[in-house]
Amino acid sequence: MPTVVVVGTQWGDEGKGKITDYLAAAADTVVRYQGGHNAGHTVIVGDREFQLHLVPSGIVHGKRCIIGNGVVLDPWAFCAEREALATQGLDVERIAISDAAHLILPMHQALDAAEEQRRGADRLGTTLRGVGPAYADKAARLGIRVGDLFHQRLLRDRLEANLRHADDVLGLHGLPPVDRNDLLTRLAEVAATLRPHVTDTTRLINDSIDRGDRVLFEGAQGTLLDIDLGTYPYVTSSHPTAGGACIGAGVGPSRIDRVLGVSKAYTTRVGDGPFPTEIHGELAENLRVRGHEYGTTTGRPRRCGWLDAVVLRYSVLVNGLAGLCITKLDTLAGIDPIRICVAYELDGRHIVDLPHDIETLSACRPVFEELPGWPDDLQDLRDRGQLPGAALGYLRRIEELVACPVVILSVGAERAQTMAWEDPFAV
Ligand code: IMP
Repeated sequence: MPTVVVVGTQWGDEGKGKITDYLAAAADTVVRYQGGHNAGHTVIVGDREFQLHLVPSGIVHGKRCIIGNGVVLDPWAFCAEREALATQGLDVERIAISDAAHLILPMHQALDAAEEQRRGADRLGTTLRGVGPAYADKAARLGIRVGDLFHQRLLRDRLEANLRHADDVLGLHGLPPVDRNDLLTRLAEVAATLRPHVTDTTRLINDSIDRGDRVLFEGAQGTLLDIDLGTYPYVTSSHPTAGGACIGAGVGPSRIDRVLGVSKAYTTRVGDGPFPTEIHGELAENLRVRGHEYGTTTGRPRRCGWLDAVVLRYSVLVNGLAGLCITKLDTLAGIDPIRICVAYELDGRHIVDLPHDIETLSACRPVFEELPGWPDDLQDLRDRGQLPGAALGYLRRIEELVACPVVILSVGAERAQTMAWEDPFAV
């Protein structure tokens, strides 16, 4: 039985939550492997809407959901999400949290905001959830892990080591030191709710694979936000790419059978940083309104642009994608012509590979190809054969440009507005 990783191929918000929810119907276990509550997915089933930030999208199907060691977990955000989902009637008891996941604590959020403010015009546009500072502590070996919550002495010692450093940095920003006793009291309270969920998830996941279960690994954010492979420094602090699934869940690369990439039929980005195919003015506003392009987590309006085949080709390469899941094709209805960026122009030359440094990327101009649009509303279509010729032509051109087949198409926010041309778990 195969294991499938689903990643975002752009700058996040590609609709991974919807695709994961769709795939989760056939999965036994769904695993989140990186990021934190900076992510936001909306899953719509009939007239019900579920907002997810930390909990894998498989929860809506009642599947075993695992928050892996690569995630940074704000324990209070988790409890709030858990409660909201339980109130909506979902079975939250089967959520497992890795004891090796690192915690996001209140000072991480204070530092995220302070650092963004200090950067001024050069700010990264973070979600202010404390994700960057929590991963920084992890890399500095100052982090507090979920499992530490259940060892009082260890927790006290680890927290003291962390706060000696955190207080210095907070002081540099003119912020007060952390109240140790208050934090320890709050952590003891929240630990009681977390406790039944906390376990060795690496063992759980590997046992699940050994049993022949269908395991789905759900990436948050997108490839271009990967700290190594993205548009650094305008990135998040984790590995949303396929390789991140191995580290963030504790599975060997040989156990991953297939990687699927989710791409919008156009491109969006929240936060700052280069965006070669960005559209400005009326058309951008039109796309933003029609596509509801406002962040699920922060409500920020998303920047909108044409599909960028240079970015998509890069994602196919670094993730080893076997198939593409194209979302929001319906949003393009009535836009004619539709543009696709097929290469970049740099110093009078055409380049087809994404440059790694943002100075060069910022100097790149998109080379567009124009394709005919279609007036038809696609939202009621359920079969590839029903697609208008121009929409089919658009998909075929994407496949040609990035050398990867489209295997799933989404034409609306509802679970039912999805069509797959093959069993995604069939390897
Ligand atoms: P951070 O992850 O909050 O540190 O933010 C770093 C960058 O990643 C910023 O540009 C954010 O807007 C972006 N980002 C983080 N999470 C998401 C997401 O779920 N969707 C889209 N962009 C995100």
